[in-house]
Amino acid sequence: MEYLTIALTKGRLAYRTLDLLEKVGITCEEMKDKNSRKLIFANEDLGVRFFLAKANDVPTYVEYGAADIGICGKDTIMEEGRKLYEVIDLGFGKCRMCVCGPESARELLRHHELIRVATKYPNIAKDYFYNKKHQTVEIIKLNGSIELAPLVGLSEVIVDIVETGSTLRENGLAVLEEICELSARVIINQVSMKRENQRITKLIRNLKTVLLEEKA
Ligand code: PRP
Repeated sequence: MEYLTIALTKGRLAYRTLDLLEKVGITCEEMKDKNSRKLIFANEDLGVRFFLAKANDVPTYVEYGAADIGICGKDTIMEEGRKLYEVIDLGFGKCRMCVCGPESARELLRHHELIRVATKYPNIAKDYFYNKKHQTVEIIKLNGSIELAPLVGLSEVIVDIVETGSTLRENGLAVLEEICELSARVIINQVSMKRENQRITKLIRNLKTVLLEEKA
């Protein structure tokens, strides 16, 4: 039996995902050791192996078939625009993609001014401003602490993830527009979906059942 390879997003999402997989009988004790530097883990009995990757890389591993299955946020899927199947909304890791800034930037947005938008998600920002709002903006790519940009005058607004809203509040910023809701999703390689159809559809079915039971 060939391994079914699952790519998980490093960090909080990975632990939530491992809990869920455990409920459908897919376990990996080795992976729970937070101090381990190992990159790939296997459950030989089940013929399943797991690896941890940075969020942005999960769709890449899945598109190329280095992983049959991936679990990552909807933000990453949208930003990467890879060819893959998105099959389940896991309902955790919930947050929103928003345009944020100081209250004073609301007017600039309303009047379609040529503003600067700092973000870790240039494709999502481009799609939102160019295709949905038909507003020309300058997009500035950053890699983290995006909220800093309007505070130091790098940009008028940001496009970023808002979870609790506390980072915004503590820095005198607010949500100005909501782009979309986000949560963790299961993605599947298109060839694996055919080649490993039975194993993958069974896993999808089991995951959906557990999620429904949890909701009830
Ligand atoms: C994310 C996001 C916001 C923050 C939102 O950053 O980019 O900064 O969390 O969460 P909150 O609404 O609960 O305050 P993350 O911590 O992932 O790090 P980053 O700044 O490096 O992107």
